[in-house]
Amino acid sequence: MVRSMNPVVVAPSLLAADHGAFAEGLAVAERAGTGWIHLDIMDGHFVPNLSFGPQVVAALRPRSRLHFDTHLMLLHPDRYVEAFAKAGADRITVHAEADHDVARTLARIRELGCAAGIAINPDGDPSAVLPHLDAVDLVLCMTVFPGFGGQAFIPAALDNVRGVAEARAARGLSFRIEVDGGVTPETAGACREAGADTLVAGTSFYKAADPAAAARAMAGA
Ligand code: DX5
Ligand code: ZN
Repeated sequence: MVRSMNPVVVAPSLLAADHGAFAEGLAVAERAGTGWIHLDIMDGHFVPNLSFGPQVVAALRPRSRLHFDTHLMLLHPDRYVEAFAKAGADRITVHAEADHDVARTLARIRELGCAAGIAINPDGDPSAVLPHLDAVDLVLCMTVFPGFGGQAFIPAALDNVRGVAEARAARGLSFRIEVDGGVTPETAGACREAGADTLVAGTSFYKAADPAAAARAMAGA
């Protein structure tokens, strides 16, 4: 097992906040000191759910200095990366399983001035991301099947984290490894041990009595 050299970040997923009060959701993350917010973008095709689009992201941008970690669950992410970059995304992650030229989309994200991420589903093959490791700032290993918040963590998905972490160490790279789905104070330790340094937390953050304490627990602080 290869732990990360990067400091651990908890990225609260706004999907689990009150959708009628996203600005307040951002403020909760600001007060908890996470530094990041995770924005889940769903198109009803790549995943069987819809969330929100670039207009919402643009409206939130002036209200927050949080790092906008934007997770595109879109069938054709290449068609939308520019819109999300213009809306104020700091980081844009696209799925290896989506219908696009992955290398081209990743290059375009960086060209637009954003950090670039590649995601794989829990049953995804980590070898799908290996050719792109020099071109990314983050690899997202899903720990649930994307589409909905509040699902149970899939422990077997940590094999992907371990595989990617080994490749990162072997190649002397420093991209972040993110886990997303079912991350709680109970499951976060195993994620960090497997090599993850970026922990998305929706339900376990926004539904916690004390979100700041939950974030600290997940970070292992
Ligand atoms: C799932 C999303 C996740 C989700 C996580 O499709 O990508 O970011 O919001 O929610 P929890 O932490 O509740 O599993
Ligand atoms: Zn996500």
